[in-house]
Order: sequence, then structure tokens, then C-alpha cells
Amino acid sequence: MSRILIVGSEGQIGSQLSKALSNRDDFDCLFLCDIKEKSRTDLNYFKVDALSYDDLKKFINDNKINEVYHLAAILSAKGEKDPMRTWNLNMNSLFNVLKLAKEGIIEKVFWPSSIAVFGNNNPKNDTPQFSDKEPITSYGISKLAGENWCKYYNKTYGTDIRSIRFPGVMSYDTLSGGGTTDYAVEIFHSFKSKKKYTSFLDRETTLPMIYIDDAIDGIIKLMRASKKKLRIQSSYNLSSFSMSPKMIVEELKKIDNKFQADYAPDYRQTIADSWPNTIDDTYAREDWDWNSKYDFKKTINHILSKLALI
Ligand SMILES: NC(=O)c1ccc[n+]([C@@H]2O[C@H](COP(=O)([O-])OP(=O)(O)OC[C@H]3O[C@@H](n4cnc5c(N)ncnc54)[C@H](O)[C@@H]3O)[C@@H](O)[C@H]2O)c1
Repeated sequence: MSRILIVGSEGQIGSQLSKALSNRDDFDCLFLCDIKEKSRTDLNYFKVDALSYDDLKKFINDNKINEVYHLAAILSAKGEKDPMRTWNLNMNSLFNVLKLAKEGIIEKVFWPSSIAVFGNNNPKNDTPQFSDKEPITSYGISKLAGENWCKYYNKTYGTDIRSIRFPGVMSYDTLSGGGTTDYAVEIFHSFKSKKKYTSFLDRETTLPMIYIDDAIDGIIKLMRASKKKLRIQSSYNLSSFSMSPKMIVEELKKIDNKFQADYAPDYRQTIADSWPNTIDDTYAREDWDWNSKYDFKKTINHILSKLALI
């Protein structure tokens, strides 16, 4: 049975992954860690800096952890404010985890990549698993390098590192941490407080997105899949639905036609323009039965009902 650690547990994905895992009974023990002083949960939380190999190793050894979900990172938009800090956290924390896997201290790792590995030269529609990758952000560069290192460790040292290239994640209770698709979370909070929302992406900018419940389901499915079936040793393309800011605004106006939004694209527009519109996730579907349960409408309705807005 697994003894699990989520690193970066207090972020948008970690906070929901910890909730989902704590409701399951197919593992022995769940530990959370982050750089933050406290957890928002009442689960088993410890402050650990993923950049300290010694601290991470001691914590993992002391608690006999054998499965790690390594989520700590600086995301795409925030990452451009300090590209070298982004590279440092995203790469060196990953190297710490990879080293623990190589040493046999941990048996299985989940590490998320992102559609930010793609750039301007790949097909925008149904972007294939093995398309060109020329990321334009420090974040995307770190994710692409990370993917290649995961593959290298798996092939060279026989580690079991599994990864998904996530689209933008939509959730309702934890604000996202500085990504290019954050507008899709922020807009609901403006709507709730009856404030006008100014989108930092233009109205028609269409990007691949995924609802948090589907994202968590994908992580758990991939981690429970048979290793023999996994053909992708770097990171799996994953797709759910695609949408633009205008599409959400139209849905919100149907509920309250006084809701106001306008568009003031900033530096994040250039990042968004370099990303795919839609993703081909055939490998994930074939290798570990990936299937999204939330389309655009279902996602909007779920968020609205969770925020008690419908
Ligand atoms: N949210 C998305 O839309 C999205 C999309 C694609 C990929 N991802 C990836 O998923 C992962 C999680 O994303 P998220 O949205 O939850 O990010 P987030 O910014 O909300 O959370 C990251 C967490 O890592 C923690 N952290 C930072 N430095 C740390 C350190 N040195 N040691 C320990 N913890 C540290 C932060 O305090 C934060 O709680 C990231 O790797 C991200 O690149 C996210």
C-alpha cells in the first residue's frame, strides 16, 4: 500500500487532490507539504521546502513515503516576472524528487507538465503528442526540460515518473497561482461580488481547459494505471474542452444580464497566442482510459452551483 506525499499541497491543484485522495481508501497514509506556514485543511500537513534535498529526503525517509505528487512550481504568467527564479524552483525541486526516485527511496512520482511546452510553430488545432515544442516562457522551457528529464530518468534508471501536460485548470475555491488561464477562475469571483471583470485575454482567445474534478480524476487514473501500458515516458497530452473569455461572459450574462466584462489584453495575451486551441489526447485515451466528464457547459454549471450562484 502507498504512503503518499503531495508537495505543493496548498495550491489550486494540490488543495483538491488532497481532498480527493483523503476520501479514498486505496493507500495507507497521506502527507501534505508546502512552503506555506499552514494548511487550509486539517490533514497531516508539514512545512517543507522542496528546494532542500536534505529536508525532503529526511521527511520522506522519516515517514516511509513511497509515492510523491510533486506540484510545487511557479506558473506561466507569474514566471515571466522572474524567469530565473521560475527555472530554479521548477527544475531544482524536480531534480530533488527525481534523485529520490533514482535512489529507490520513492517508487512512484506524479509531476505535472503543461500545454506551455508548445509554442508558435506547432499545429494550433488537435496539437499532437509529438508536435514541435518551442515554448516562449521560462515556465514552458522548464516544463519541457522537466518532461525530457522525466523520460531520461525512466529510461536510464528505471524510475516510475508519470506526467500529464495539463491545459488551463478551472476551479472555484482556490484561486490559481499566476497562470495565463487564471481569468477563468477570477471571473466567477467578480461575478459573485457583482463587480465588473476586466479580462487580461482578448474575448475570442480560445484555449484548452479542464475542470478541476476531471484534472484530479486524470491524475489518479494515470497513477493507478498499469506501468506496462504507458507508452509515453515524458508527459501525456490531455484534453477536455476549449473556450474563450467571451464564452464565459455570455453564460454569466444569461444568469445576470447586468454583469459587465471588458477586455484589456496584457503580456499574457502573447503567451496565450502561442498555445494550442485544442489538443489531441489519443495516447491518454488509449493507454489509461482517459475520458473527460465535464464539457464547457457542465463545468460552468458546476462552478456556479459550488459558489451558490444558481
Ligand atoms: N493550474 C493550472 O492551470 C495548471 C496547468 C498546467 C500545469 N499545472 C501544474 O500543476 C502544478 C500545480 O499547479 P497549481 O495551479 O496548483 O499551482 P499553485 O501556484 O496554485 O500551487 C503551487 C504550490 O506550490 C507551493 N510551493 C512553491 N514553492 C515551494 C517550495 N519551494 N516548496 C514547497 N512548496 C512550494 C506554493 O506555495 C503553492 O501552494 C504546477 O506544477 C503547475 O505547473 C497547473
